[in-house]
Amino acid sequence: MKLWILLGLLLIFSCGGERKEAVKEEAVEVAKAGGPEELARKKGCFACHGISEKKVGPAYTEVAKRYAGKEGAVDELVKSIKKGSMGKWGSIPMSPQPVSEEEARKLAEWILSLR
Ligand code: HEC
Repeated sequence: MKLWILLGLLLIFSCGGERKEAVKEEAVEVAKAGGPEELARKKGCFACHGISEKKVGPAYTEVAKRYAGKEGAVDELVKSIKKGSMGKWGSIPMSPQPVSEEEARKLAEWILSLR
């Protein structure tokens, strides 16, 4: 009986450790690549978007609000970023942005987290 408790505890501790490691590795990866905000800066997104301020395009916090809880939101935004978007926010269209699929996904996930 005691052995099981011990085993259980061991399992909990070892999992916790692994998770911490994974989080640490991920943080290092993000730091190396520059965070999504840095990516947006590099790609010139802030010329037309503010995080919470409307410029030529909608504020990212507004985008996050509109798509909150919507299924497939990341995919939809990835498509808008890669292929361009028009008529959803006003009369000015967004041309297709020069980003890879992976970059677009990183940006879309970040934007959706900004509420
Ligand atoms: C030249 C100006 C301009 C640039 C540069 C620009 N955008 Fe936009 N963006 C817009 C406009 C205008 C809209 C609104 C389009 C519409 O009404 O459908 C928009 C809409 C969006 C939306 C909402 C799309 C939707 O489906 O609702 C996202 C997300 C977005 N932009 C992300 C980005 C990212 C990420 C970048 C940088 C890689 C970027 N934008 C660069 C002008 C720009």
